[in-house]
Amino acid sequence: MNLFSNYRLGELELPNRIVMAPMTRSRAIGGIPNDLMRDYYAQRAEAGLLITEGIAPSPNGLGYARIPGLFSKEQVAGWRGVTQAVHDAGGRIFAQLMHTGRIAHPANLPPDARVLAPSAVAAGGQMYTDDAGLQPMPRPTAMTEAQVESTRREFVIAARHAIDAGFDGVELHAANGYLLEQFLHPHTNRRTDGYGGSTDARTRFVAEVAQQVAEEIGSTRVGVRLSPFNTFNDLPEHDAVVEQYDSVARALRGVLYLHVIDNANEQYHRALAAIRDQFDGTLIRNGGYDPERATSTLANGSADLISFGRPFIANPDFVQRLTRGVPLATPDPSTFYTPGPAGYLDYAPAPL
Ligand SMILES: Cc1cc2nc3c(=O)[nH]c(=O)nc-3n(C[C@H](O)[C@H](O)[C@H](O)COP(=O)(O)O)c2cc1C
Repeated sequence: MNLFSNYRLGELELPNRIVMAPMTRSRAIGGIPNDLMRDYYAQRAEAGLLITEGIAPSPNGLGYARIPGLFSKEQVAGWRGVTQAVHDAGGRIFAQLMHTGRIAHPANLPPDARVLAPSAVAAGGQMYTDDAGLQPMPRPTAMTEAQVESTRREFVIAARHAIDAGFDGVELHAANGYLLEQFLHPHTNRRTDGYGGSTDARTRFVAEVAQQVAEEIGSTRVGVRLSPFNTFNDLPEHDAVVEQYDSVARALRGVLYLHVIDNANEQYHRALAAIRDQFDGTLIRNGGYDPERATSTLANGSADLISFGRPFIANPDFVQRLTRGVPLATPDPSTFYTPGPAGYLDYAPAPL
């Protein structure tokens, strides 16, 4: 078995084990997917599975400039163009639902939207805004129980929209310090109402979102992204990480896959082992893989699929290049998040 072996993922037959990791590219002017995005994903359709950039399930989740949503008719129509082009090119594509929570600035949000989080704990650091450049992130409003309920509902409706737009499934982004991970982490979750206070209580919101999304669109179309030991987006280390992910993986039994971002923490292998023990679905691993390490990780059984992020930016034909042994091009970080086609659609495939 290697990166080019096929794999049955729920209802999908993947022609290889190479997944394109979700990557925000900030090309969605007004939050609406467009033709540039259609062409970008279609160029990469050879991947076993494409996972989109983070997509906001609601206006409150649009914390970054120019990220797309899945809550309006225009957005559903825009995404339909993307999924159609990917399917026409022979690919498969999941939508990543990302609610940014406290990682946001009001200047990036529509007028009626609010920066909400489990608790009123501001993230250090600055957020880029198109209007005023870098700005400190505000202290978020702690969600009321009614807002917990309505936010959960937003995920369910967005998942329904994703299916209506032609996606093969959704990935819930519970990693990298965004809203769902804010519930999992004791620094950002100081709640005392059944959604915080113990590892299982911190797991509860993620578990309820996953369960209700699965009820809406089918459990074989729902994956969840996790990042144990993550400190990105101003999360401090804490000592209940293994216990937390044991709880999360147990609560998520029955979803299609878990997509775990590796971490350099020396205890990471314990969290991964807890996840593998508790969860019997597909495991996707990610984070700095090259083809050799990806192959050995698949071979030793510690992952079923491997996702690659940055290599896909500069190599639309990443899968072809690996097959043919063509060297990889290097992406230019200065155009990761800039609007327009430069650094987005102009990376050429290798000549035949
Ligand atoms: C430009 C860029 C944007 C990213 N946006 C997202 C995102 O929207 N959602 C997400 O879960 N991860 C996001 N990530 C993280 C990647 O999915 C991946 O975890 C990371 O790049 C490590 O994998 P790699 O070493 O193969 O690049 C992003 C990474 C990059 C480089």
